[in-house]
Amino acid sequence: MFHFLCASTKKEASRLAADLAIDLLKKNPEAVLGLATGSSPLDFYADLVEANKAGQISFKKVKSVNLDEYVGLAPDHDQSYAYFMHENLFDKVDILPENTHLPSGTAKDLDAECRRYHELLLEVGTPDLQVLGIGNNGHIGFNEPADVFPENTSAVTLTESTIRANSRFFSSMDEVPKMAISMGVGEILRAKKILLLAFGTAKAEILEKALFGEVTPRVPASILQTADEVYICADDEAMAVIREKHGAIA
Ligand code: F6R
Repeated sequence: MFHFLCASTKKEASRLAADLAIDLLKKNPEAVLGLATGSSPLDFYADLVEANKAGQISFKKVKSVNLDEYVGLAPDHDQSYAYFMHENLFDKVDILPENTHLPSGTAKDLDAECRRYHELLLEVGTPDLQVLGIGNNGHIGFNEPADVFPENTSAVTLTESTIRANSRFFSSMDEVPKMAISMGVGEILRAKKILLLAFGTAKAEILEKALFGEVTPRVPASILQTADEVYICADDEAMAVIREKHGAIA
């Protein structure tokens, strides 16, 4: 079931998403959060940092599990997802470092690391809220279009389109990691609430396909149609195709 949190700009829409998370953390200060990186959650995290600074919420008892990490990048690499999380959230709020978790991109044995992360997800517990972005090709986490939905954490080969999209953060194409470790679709769907953030014209087509098209592993985000409580946070640009085809639903 989809609930729409829409506003004209990314900033305003992110505020609605932040209010959802703030409300959740006020009610449950021991919440488990599933977190995403990328450009979509930046304003959302900034709002959570502000709410923490203002004393409205605390992360002292919060636990977090991130969706993914690039294979080959150590946490101190400035394009690693661990680095991103420290820069944009962890170092700016009162979360305890031992309560934050990401897959290790530098593990020697990737299969063992995927198994370790799967076990860790079970141990940490069901996320109360899972934050997601959506790739231009419909990926969630780094679950790329495929023949089946990957159930559990796995090492994935990134598609050309994802490598191209990610290259904006690297000085050359050669430096862009070609693999990542990603939570599986089954693990993502365990969350009690899911928050999908989509902003800008580049996401308009795929957002419509994911929410209203066929449920298929060719469009991994389409699996969200089967989840109970999904919040779609989008700006006017990302909502354009949905509104064009389905009217003013939000
Ligand atoms: C990031 C992740 C990815 C991104 C997606 C959108 O942890 O799992 O699925 O959410 O690639 O990226 P942005 O937000 O940069 O457009």
